[in-house]
Amino acid sequence: MASFVEWLDKFCISRHNAGMNYAHSTPHSPSYDRHMVSNAYIVQSYAKINLTLDVLGKRSDGYHELATVMQTVDLYDTLCFVATDEDRVSISCNQPELCNDENLVVRAAHAIRKRLNLTQGLLIELHKCIPVAAGLGGGSGNAAAVLQALQRWWQLPLDARELWSMAAELGSDVPFFLSGGLALCEGRGEKITPLELHWPLAMRWLLLIKPAIAVSTARVFRNLTVNDYSTGAESRTVQAALQSKSPLRPTDLHNSLERGVVEQYPEVAQARNAVLDAGADYVQLSGSGPTLFTSFSTLATASQVQQRLQTQGYEVYLTRPIHSGGDEIQFFS
Ligand code: C5P
Repeated sequence: MASFVEWLDKFCISRHNAGMNYAHSTPHSPSYDRHMVSNAYIVQSYAKINLTLDVLGKRSDGYHELATVMQTVDLYDTLCFVATDEDRVSISCNQPELCNDENLVVRAAHAIRKRLNLTQGLLIELHKCIPVAAGLGGGSGNAAAVLQALQRWWQLPLDARELWSMAAELGSDVPFFLSGGLALCEGRGEKITPLELHWPLAMRWLLLIKPAIAVSTARVFRNLTVNDYSTGAESRTVQAALQSKSPLRPTDLHNSLERGVVEQYPEVAQARNAVLDAGADYVQLSGSGPTLFTSFSTLATASQVQQRLQTQGYEVYLTRPIHSGGDEIQFFS
């Protein structure tokens, strides 16, 4: 290990000092070569929605036992990693309030450096497009992107199990983003069962509506009552429907956190009504919110509803399901 680390440090620093141009590599680049480590590396980190989020009960470690069906969507942040010759990790971000050592991006990079005793310095440029503290997993996705990017860029000797365990330590949602796509997540969210990406044609366009407030996930979980707990049946129903390509009904979607969030945050209740009034069939909270989502079978209707909501001052993203690994989506009707 020592010789590998010495090689990595010397290699990256000498490349840096040689003043090489940025070389944009991607994980799927055909030119990606075992011995080729460039000075910069760019990846995208996608958002997610929760089709279901069943809270089964409270655990003795203070977390809650979950069953949730998550899907990555085509709304992403971009991370650019630049090798530096300082023995530290720094961050630059288009949202300056996120430039601190508590940012999951920095924590993930520190975790990798500590695990492998690396001294190679790093600047992470983070271009945020996913709303922050919004229930879309932006920060968790960023952390998973750092783990994966550094492993690929620096060709680190970490296997899938080690990456998963580092991801789980960083946050409950982080392991999901290592694979993305469609998955059932259980435990505190870290036990992932990847699902075939079958998606209803009638739900191919997604609108994400972000009320102008930030929500604390910890506070939302703290305010749950036993009446909010469920058996996980909703998640199993949605999983079975998607896997057998059966239609999904809006009533199959469920989020145990929604009651508390709607009660605590009037802005979310107002946004729910606005979405329904604008012509959506249903509206559902993603994660701990405050972002709501709904879906449409045509781009024309989705755009129309988006415009109506934007006219009322709402931040609305028109997006679609995506598999970050590049796998195709199989639509069914
Ligand atoms: O794991 P993560 O740090 O993302 O979780 C944020 C907070 O959400 C936790 O501190 C906890 O209060 C709550 N949480 C929970 N049960 C889960 C996941 C998160 O109570 N399964």
